[in-house]
Amino acid sequence: MGWLGRDIVSIKDFSKDEILQVLDKAADIEKNRSKYSELLRGKVMAALFFEPSTRTRLSFEAAMHRLGGSVIGFSEPSMTSIAKGETFEDTMRIIDGYCDVIAIRHPEIGSAKKAADIVRNPVINAGDGAHEHPTQTFTDLYTIRKSCGRLDNLTVGFLGDLKYGRTVHSLAYALSHFNATIYFISPKSLKMPDEDLKELNKRKVTYHEEEDLLKVSNKLDVLYVTRIQKERFLNPEDYHSVKGVYKLDPSFLKHTKPELKILHPLPRIDEINPQLDKAPQSIYFEQAHNGVPVRMALLAMVLGGK
Ligand code: CP
Repeated sequence: MGWLGRDIVSIKDFSKDEILQVLDKAADIEKNRSKYSELLRGKVMAALFFEPSTRTRLSFEAAMHRLGGSVIGFSEPSMTSIAKGETFEDTMRIIDGYCDVIAIRHPEIGSAKKAADIVRNPVINAGDGAHEHPTQTFTDLYTIRKSCGRLDNLTVGFLGDLKYGRTVHSLAYALSHFNATIYFISPKSLKMPDEDLKELNKRKVTYHEEEDLLKVSNKLDVLYVTRIQKERFLNPEDYHSVKGVYKLDPSFLKHTKPELKILHPLPRIDEINPQLDKAPQSIYFEQAHNGVPVRMALLAMVLGGK
């Protein structure tokens, strides 16, 4: 499938070769930023954020500006006519006529696909509920490749909220292309959803489920830490029963390979002590910054910029 006009809704829609095309484009953009500064002059991105965001929204906006394009949108849906009762469908149809590409974050699973089915322009999923976050995954893979020097044959641990963590779901699917061995480390109530495990079985991914991080920490090349997603719990007592269940501090590094890389999609709450930030293993701030060249690559590719 070509890139021009393509929706980016699920990481499952991308082959290994297509994933590598995005990472290579992002690497070239990072090295030769000035070459791309006029690429999308005259193009408009609509950034529609129905849920809070710092990294995704602002890195999308920075990406579009750095490509010479411009941005419209909202981060507070209560200030739009949705507050007067306008439907999602009508809102999408209207905005489609004002822009060339739509990046959308929404609390409902399937909302990006729903938007893509309504509009003519390409839609990029910036996070749909607890489902997927494909542009974060391209960013995660870019960061892992840059820091580990490869993507193939890595042992990757996912820690924390694997039930609601959409970044975990998308990254686990993507790693199925790279012969990863995966450790899913979580309390039982936040384990990886069965439908995702079924999909990983179909893709013949080797994975293990574990509750105790220290039992597996010395096997890992990459540890992907996630926040417990308070906002997705229906019952506050359930949240309080798992809140603060994993907390990493510098002493954790005594139990790992020295070359371990620690990623986190951020925001963090208390799962990584800031004292760990200066360790060479901690690359989560670099990961967040990599979101700009990666989203520049995706915007350039779906809008046909060379
Ligand atoms: N990683 C991520 O999606 O962060 P934001 O919620 O701040 O966009």
